[in-house]
Amino acid sequence: MEMDVNDRRGGAGFPVDQPLQALRMDHQLVSKLFDSYLNSQDMNVKKEAGRQILMNLELHDALEQTVFYPRVHEADASLVDSCEDEHQQVRQMLDQIKAMGEDDPQCDQMYRQLSEAVMKHVEVEEQQLFPKVEQSGMDMSALGLEMQAFEANMISGQASAMGQKDART
Ligand SMILES: [Fe+2]
Ligand SMILES: [Fe+2]
Repeated sequence: MEMDVNDRRGGAGFPVDQPLQALRMDHQLVSKLFDSYLNSQDMNVKKEAGRQILMNLELHDALEQTVFYPRVHEADASLVDSCEDEHQQVRQMLDQIKAMGEDDPQCDQMYRQLSEAVMKHVEVEEQQLFPKVEQSGMDMSALGLEMQAFEANMISGQASAMGQKDART
């Protein structure tokens, strides 16, 4: 598996005019990664898919929590609040998975639960929240620009955290 954080969205960059499309692409990517994890018997494939799931969910969580949800809160406050609660539950599951270690026999069960929670949440966003945001008449390009900037920052932060800072000296 060759996907890494720099290949997000097929290398095409953030679709600034269609920020909801960017989020849908993340959802599709994570769904595919869950399929690879859950349908493979090959430990190397599972481990790589697992790492990609954690990394992509953390990025997506930060993007939605920090920029997207606050900006769209007024489109449906109680729906956005409940989405935030679901994110918190997912973050707790991510912490549990990271604490377990990749060779723990409970991993499969945890990833299965994580997949169910994430895909249920994705359905709420795509079926309920996104249509409300689309109907709200808000400036999508302004939202997209802000999300793009946040994500670019996050990704360069992750890249330097992964050891590329040595190259700068
Ligand atoms: Fe999402
Ligand atoms: Fe979300």
